[in-house]
Amino acid sequence: MASTDDATPPPIDATPEWKALASHADEMASVHLRTLFDDENRARALTREAAGFVVDLSKNHLTNETLELLAELATKSDVAGLRDAMFAGERINITEDRAVLHTALRRPRTDSLVVDGSDVVVDVHEVLDAAGAFAEQVRDGSWRGATGEAIRTVVNIGIGGSDLGPAMAYGALRPFAERTIDVRFVSNIDPTDLHEALIGLDPATTLFIVVSKTFSTIETLTNAASARKWLSDALGQEAVPSHFVAVSTNAERVAEFGIDTANMFGFWDWVGGRYSVGSAVGLSLMIAIGADGFRRFLGGMHEMDQHFVTAPTAENLPMLLGLVGVWYTNFLGTDSHAVLPYSQYLARFPAYLQQLDMESNGKSVDRYGRTVDYATGPVVWGEPGTNGQHAFYQLLHQGNRRVSSDFIGFVHATSPVGEHHDLLTANFIAQTEALAFGQGHDDPQRRFDGNRPSTTIMADRLDPATLGRLIALYEHKVFTMGAIWGINSFDQFGVELGKKLAVAVGPELVGSDSLGHDSSTNALIERYRRRD
Ligand code: F6P
Repeated sequence: MASTDDATPPPIDATPEWKALASHADEMASVHLRTLFDDENRARALTREAAGFVVDLSKNHLTNETLELLAELATKSDVAGLRDAMFAGERINITEDRAVLHTALRRPRTDSLVVDGSDVVVDVHEVLDAAGAFAEQVRDGSWRGATGEAIRTVVNIGIGGSDLGPAMAYGALRPFAERTIDVRFVSNIDPTDLHEALIGLDPATTLFIVVSKTFSTIETLTNAASARKWLSDALGQEAVPSHFVAVSTNAERVAEFGIDTANMFGFWDWVGGRYSVGSAVGLSLMIAIGADGFRRFLGGMHEMDQHFVTAPTAENLPMLLGLVGVWYTNFLGTDSHAVLPYSQYLARFPAYLQQLDMESNGKSVDRYGRTVDYATGPVVWGEPGTNGQHAFYQLLHQGNRRVSSDFIGFVHATSPVGEHHDLLTANFIAQTEALAFGQGHDDPQRRFDGNRPSTTIMADRLDPATLGRLIALYEHKVFTMGAIWGINSFDQFGVELGKKLAVAVGPELVGSDSLGHDSSTNALIERYRRRD
C-alpha cells in the first residue's frame, strides 16, 4: 500500500473535474430523454462504430458535453497512463505487487514484451501451442483414455475465474464446437454439482481438466478428489494420468494431486483469475472449438486491446462505456447495472460479468489506502432477453429506481430458425425505445413515463472473434472505472474472510464442543448438529 504523502493526488471527488460533473448532473437530472431527442442529430452524434461494434449511447441521460467533462475526469485520473503501464507489464496490482498482463495472452507471436528479463509473449505462445496440440489430440481421438478409447466428455473442474470464463465462452460458441465431445462444468462444492455432471458418463471416455490458478481452492480440490475417486473406482488408480490434466500456476500441488505435470498447462501470477479465459484456463473451450477457433477468439481480444490503446477517448469504446458507468454511479446516483444479451448463447455472460466487474471494482479503499467516500462498483446482473422481459422488466419500465443497462444484440443469427431472429431483434430494439420514451395513459397504472436509460451494443454475429472483442470491451470498461475511482481492480481480498471462517465452522458442524460465535451463528451450527 502506498503511503499518503505530498505526491499523493487528492481524492478524485475533490478535483475541479469531478465538481464540474456534479454541477452538470444537477442541470441534467430533470431533463427527460424525450427532450434530449428533440435534437434530430442525437443518435448520430452519440453512436460510435469501431472494432466490430456499434455502440449507441444516445438513450442515456447525457450529452456530448457530458462526455467531454467525463473525458476530462479520465485525463485527471490518468486512465491512459495506468492503461499504458498495464500493457507494458508494470506492477500496477500494487497490493499484491504484480503485473497485470492478461492482454499479453492475446498478443501475436510476432510481438515481444520483456518483463523481468523474460519475453512473456514467447512464454504465452509456448503454452498456447502445447494446449492447442493437446486439444487437437482430444478432438481427433488420438488422446486415449486408459482403456484405449477416445474422449467423449470433458469435465472442467474449477470455480470463479477458473469456471465462469470457459463455461460462458463454451455456451456462447456452441455452434462452433465439436458436437461429438460434450463439455460439462463443475464448480460448486455442493455435491449435487458433481453428481449431476457425472450422470450418464463412462469413466473410460471422460477427461477431467482441473483448473485452479493456486491449486488450493477448497471447492475445486474437493470436487477433483471426488472425481478422481469416481474414476479410479472404475478403472484403477493407474488410469488417473490419462484422464486428468491440470491448468495451474502451481506445479508442485498438481503433482501432489497425482496429475502428471507433463499434462499441466501453466499460466502466470500476472493473469488474474477473472481475466484468465484467454490463457490455458480456456482449455475446455479450446477442445470444443479447436486451436484455430481459440486463436480467432484471442485475435478478437487483441483487436479490442489495440482499439483501447490507440483510439482517442471520444471514440474509445471501453473508455466510453466506463465513463458512462462512472456518470451513472457517481453523478446520477445509480447503483444497479443490468446486462441484457439478446442471445441465448450469452446466457452466462451476466454471471461472467458479475465476477469481472464486482470482484474487480467492489472496493472501498483507494490505491493510497484511503477509504473513499464516493460510490464504486455497481451491482451487475442480468438475463438474456426476451426471458427477462417476462420477469424483471416490469421494474425497469415502471419501477422507481434508476437502473442503467446494456442491451447486447447481433445483426445475424448464429443458428437461424425461421423468423425467430427478426422477432428477437424486434424485441431488442423495441425495449430500448419503450424504456426511453414510454407512453402516456389516462390511467397512471398503465402509464409508462419513459426516461429509462440504455446503451445498445450491436455486432454483426456472435463468433469466436466477436466474443473475444466483447470480453475485452468489458475488461477495459471495468479497468477504466477502477482507474477513475483510484482503486486497485486486480486484487480480491474481500473473498478471503468468508473462506477463513468456513474453515473454522467446518469441524464445528460435526463436533460437540461449545461454540464461541455470535448467537445467530451458534444457533445455526447447533441446528445443523441436531440433524437426524
Ligand atoms: O473467489 C476468489 C478467487 O480467488 C477468484 O478470484 C478466482 O477466480 C477463484 O477464487 C478461483 O481460484 P483458483 O483458480 O486459484 O482456484
